[in-house]
Amino acid sequence: MPSQIENRKVDHIQICLEKNVQARHATTGFEDVSFVHKALPEIEKDKINLFTVLFDHKFSAPLIVGAMTGGTPEAMKINSIIAEAVEETGLGMGVGSQRAAIEDPKLEKTFSVVRKKAATAFLVANIGGPQLVKGYGIKEAEKAVNMIEADALAIHLNPLQEVVQPEGETNYAGALERIGEIAKALDIPIIIKETGSGIAAEEAKMLENVGVAGIDVAGVGGTSWAAVEYHRAKETQDESRQRLGEVFWDWGIPTAVSIVEVAQSVDLTVIASGGVRTGIDVAKAIALGAGLSSLTSPILRPATVDIKEVKQTLQLMIEELRNTMFLVGVDSIQKLKEAPVVLVGKTAEWLRMRGFHPELYARRKRGKYT
Ligand SMILES: Cc1cc2nc3c(=O)[nH]c(=O)nc-3n(C[C@H](O)[C@H](O)[C@H](O)COP(=O)(O)O)c2cc1C
Repeated sequence: MPSQIENRKVDHIQICLEKNVQARHATTGFEDVSFVHKALPEIEKDKINLFTVLFDHKFSAPLIVGAMTGGTPEAMKINSIIAEAVEETGLGMGVGSQRAAIEDPKLEKTFSVVRKKAATAFLVANIGGPQLVKGYGIKEAEKAVNMIEADALAIHLNPLQEVVQPEGETNYAGALERIGEIAKALDIPIIIKETGSGIAAEEAKMLENVGVAGIDVAGVGGTSWAAVEYHRAKETQDESRQRLGEVFWDWGIPTAVSIVEVAQSVDLTVIASGGVRTGIDVAKAIALGAGLSSLTSPILRPATVDIKEVKQTLQLMIEELRNTMFLVGVDSIQKLKEAPVVLVGKTAEWLRMRGFHPELYARRKRGKYT
């Protein structure tokens, strides 16, 4: 008999494949961010170098596939395909929450397949913040890491999903302290990731103080977990949860805002995710302060087909990133980090209201006009 967690995971994949679960009115904020086009790039496009080193690992481009799944036969196939694709492209990936396999060792192979298929790629293990409050500790964290021989451990924070889903675990009291204990005990980097509602400067500072190494902002503007749970509630005719999902569909900090809030407040590696959909988004995220970008839902459908489809999706993003860098006249990721970007509209306004200075991004390297 599949467990409750396994059934839920099947539902999530089906809903994400078949229904609209993207933010409806909220946007990532990337639409408020523009590069300053260079009519004279003065570089050769073919010589642009996309390599980057983060967490002591070399990536062929600043891109990973976000945490998605595990625990079921279909999930094993998806994980295996993504792993092979990221190994061949020199990128990285996260697996979905490993809770099901921590509780039932029979399911371990649906996760461990990723290291079998990706001997050298950057792999991120995954456990949930609410589980830490309920008793998960160093032992479970190590189990998750060892299961996939991970290079880093992500601890996901999903308070929005927890309030909307019927099996929601809404006790987060003490999660920060547990995160700190795990960060101290493990000898690999701990990444804290949201799941679609963003992370603010205040939380980023608290997380830095307890020793985490990276923050994956997963802001609003892409996949909405309130939307996923809305569809599940609709199927079970749970009207009050359906309403909750609808009301909170667009809840969160836009991804572009969250990148700036975190990158300007802490000295940690920032991963940009939540609605990253093009190579231009990846480039903007890096210019705003992220080290890597991560995309999840755009990889789901290709991963149900084959490795070629996943590789093609990733390679398109990389080619778009390369073209963006050409048009901005930067031939390395390091230089992209310093490229001027103009922030306007809602995103700039939000950041100003919060005490940040979006205009400083536009004034980078203006040469004789400074
Ligand atoms: C089908 C699916 C399953 C997911 N499962 C997990 C999970 O188990 N753990 C986790 O940390 N995030 C999970 N996520 C969240 C993603 O890692 C990511 O933060 C979020 O989808 C935003 O990125 P996107 O807009 O590119 O999809 C899942 C996302 C999808 C689409």
